[in-house]
Amino acid sequence: MDDLRELRREYEALLDRLQRNEREFRRLGRAVWRVQEDERRRLARDLHDGIGQNLTALKHRLSQLGEATDDPDVRSGLAAAVQLCADTLEDTRELSRLLRPPILDDLGLEAALRWLARSVGESAGIEVGVEIEPLPALDGDLQTLLFRVAQEALNNAAKHAQASQVLLRVVARAGLLQLQVVDDGRGCDPDAALRSGGSGLGGMRERLRLYDGRLDMHSAPGEGTRLRAVVPLDAR
Ligand SMILES: Nc1ncnc2c1ncn2[C@@H]1O[C@H](COP(=O)(O)OP(=O)(O)O)[C@@H](O)[C@H]1O
Ligand SMILES: [Mg+2]
Repeated sequence: MDDLRELRREYEALLDRLQRNEREFRRLGRAVWRVQEDERRRLARDLHDGIGQNLTALKHRLSQLGEATDDPDVRSGLAAAVQLCADTLEDTRELSRLLRPPILDDLGLEAALRWLARSVGESAGIEVGVEIEPLPALDGDLQTLLFRVAQEALNNAAKHAQASQVLLRVVARAGLLQLQVVDDGRGCDPDAALRSGGSGLGGMRERLRLYDGRLDMHSAPGEGTRLRAVVPLDAR
């Protein structure tokens, strides 16, 4: 009888330790993502304010020099340099927005998702519909998480699916937040797709798990793809 009680005590202590390790693992995982987002936010700002502003000044200066000369060769050389500055400035701004769009911090998830859908739709030439139910106030980590999942899903629909229509839906119900991205493209093997790591779908699935969330994908060749992320609203 004593042996049994002892065994039970050991088992409970072990279980307790496992649960504590699991909590610590999640805490660390979330901290890593938070550090990455902070770094991206800083880089995005440096790119926009530092390099971006210098390029603007350079472009202005070159076009002043072009106006001040009568030599046609110098003029056309400077005009080409001004154009190069303008293109590089546009690329710099685009890169900065992709790293961490300021709209996410300034206006929140809903506005950021509408911007993302418009921007991916325009650059890929596909129609991206957006349906977002009124959302409750969301914690910053959760907003970033859902934005990154949507970004990956929409980029995949543009890059891999050859879709002509994509729908992004967000609903909040029964304490859960659901984000769905549905496309009418060529489809794929979901098990293989979810196996990728890094910032792809597999990485997003792991990232969602750190917040007690999950990622499901339904897809078959020729039938389009339906991706659904679900996360509890009170995920801590
Ligand atoms: N919407 C989609 N339509 C068709 N294939 C997809 C879709 N999303 C993902 N895939 C497939 O799953 C693979 C893994 O996707 P992902 O993890 O995002 O990595 P990556 O985009 O870097 O290739 C893609 O290479 C593609 O073959
Ligand atoms: Mg991808």
